[in-house]
Amino acid sequence: MGAMPSSEWSEKLATILAISQKMNSERDLGALLDLIAREATNVLLCDRASIFLLDRERNELWSKVALGSDEILRFDARMGIAGRTAATGETINVKDAYSHPQFYNAIDDRTGYRTRNVLSVAVRNQKGAIIGAFEALNKRVGAFNERDEDFLDALASHAAVAIENVQLIGELRRREDELAEQNAHLMREVESKYSTHGIIGAGVRIQQVVRLVERIRDSLVNVLITGESGTGKEMVAKAIHYTSARARRPFVALNCAALPETLLESELFGIEKGVATGVEQRVGQFQKADGGTLFLDEVGDLSLIAQAKILRVLQERVMERVGGRNAISVDVRLLAATNKDLEAEIAKGAFREDLYYRIKVVHIHMPPLRDIREEIGLLANHFLKEYCAETGRPGMEFAPEVLRRLVVAPWPGNIRQLRNEVMRLAAIARQIVISEEDLWEGVPTPRYNQAPAKSTKSQSLKAAVGQLEKQMILEAMQETRNNQQQAAKTLGLSRQGLINKMKRYAISA
Ligand SMILES: Nc1ncnc2c1ncn2[C@@H]1O[C@H](COP(=O)(O)OP(=O)(O)OP(=O)(O)O)[C@@H](O)[C@H]1O
Ligand SMILES: [Mg+2]
Repeated sequence: MGAMPSSEWSEKLATILAISQKMNSERDLGALLDLIAREATNVLLCDRASIFLLDRERNELWSKVALGSDEILRFDARMGIAGRTAATGETINVKDAYSHPQFYNAIDDRTGYRTRNVLSVAVRNQKGAIIGAFEALNKRVGAFNERDEDFLDALASHAAVAIENVQLIGELRRREDELAEQNAHLMREVESKYSTHGIIGAGVRIQQVVRLVERIRDSLVNVLITGESGTGKEMVAKAIHYTSARARRPFVALNCAALPETLLESELFGIEKGVATGVEQRVGQFQKADGGTLFLDEVGDLSLIAQAKILRVLQERVMERVGGRNAISVDVRLLAATNKDLEAEIAKGAFREDLYYRIKVVHIHMPPLRDIREEIGLLANHFLKEYCAETGRPGMEFAPEVLRRLVVAPWPGNIRQLRNEVMRLAAIARQIVISEEDLWEGVPTPRYNQAPAKSTKSQSLKAAVGQLEKQMILEAMQETRNNQQQAAKTLGLSRQGLINKMKRYAISA
């Protein structure tokens, strides 16, 4: 610092702090640059002051032309006194601007201003990198002195912080706008995917489901969706949610079968902080779905205790966190799905009748694929189109005999299995037209043409299909060495779906 009486120094310090405070509350870069220029002019008793910021990408310096105007002046960063400061970091104090070799008079020519003397200091960010130059022009009386240099230097370092903050805020805002835009786009995509429901099917059975979904869209009734594994239960649940007035609120799916009893309550209702040492507060699924829809998948697998708790929430519309003392009110629409026969479960005493009637205000049953074979062609083509759209491959198609085989296959894993199979075929197909040869290409395929063990002529269709299902499950289990997860995958079943079928056919693991 130059020699300066301590009282004068503390006065300057106070001025800088005051300016700094003003700067830090400014959110707009243009306004901030104006503010800094104005304050510097006042304190240095000069005519003009401006900050030139370095645009490293273009190697240019830019600045606002004048206070209050938004016009921008840009020039090559190697030019002028400001350019020199920005390149080397040195402070330049020139009494007679036009005599200085570095002086760039084109700017005067452009702005119509006549520069007499110049003081230029570097603007550095907190990491010490130069982000520009701060210039003061034409001291009103005499020339700039050493104190002016110190002062402009101190002001520059405060200005740098404020400028970087404003730039950062601007960047965050831009990203926020971008994310909001992306989010809106995704929302529109989800809406369009489910607003036509995405439910494919031209026949009465599927069309009935579609009409029912449309009819209940504005009511908030609880819906029970039943059907075998892979028949589209979750898809229908999403269609109901995304066509309802709650579409923009969360859809929360919870698989009740996957939860051990001990975790279920905290998963559903959340935990209060500090229930046990080190336990953080956790929000339960009911609360996450507040204002939206909670989808209880495999609802038939809930324990009786869990059923009682859920019933209470449905009746009273309030819940308590584990270890919590206060009732929290929740507004949740409940959709539930199961592949169990809940009435049989009620008869066994494994499911509460009162809960059953609460969740089954409307009942939608999804038919197994073997009962709606007329949809197979439509569905297969739909999934193939989906594959092409996702992978960017040109329009593929099925050879007619392939479609014929798909139509007669047993499909124990229903529509999900059909979808998996189409995706697999499309991926291994050597040509645009999926041919019969692709069906037999190395990889295990569903055994479309394998003769069932017994003649099917004397049996009902149902019994024959059952027999084939049993055989396919046995084979899949053998091939995967009893790995249920993998066997379920090859069959296009959920693991629970496989377990149910194994029980039905008395196949032991
Ligand atoms: N009618 C349909 N139109 C188009 N796609 C369908 C249809 N039904 C089911 N799908 C598709 O089949 C797959 C399985 O559907 P989903 O997951 O809804 O079945 P699920 O009944 O919930 O099965 P699980 O009981 O095994 O959970 C999904 O990819 C879904 O998009
Ligand atoms: Mg499901």
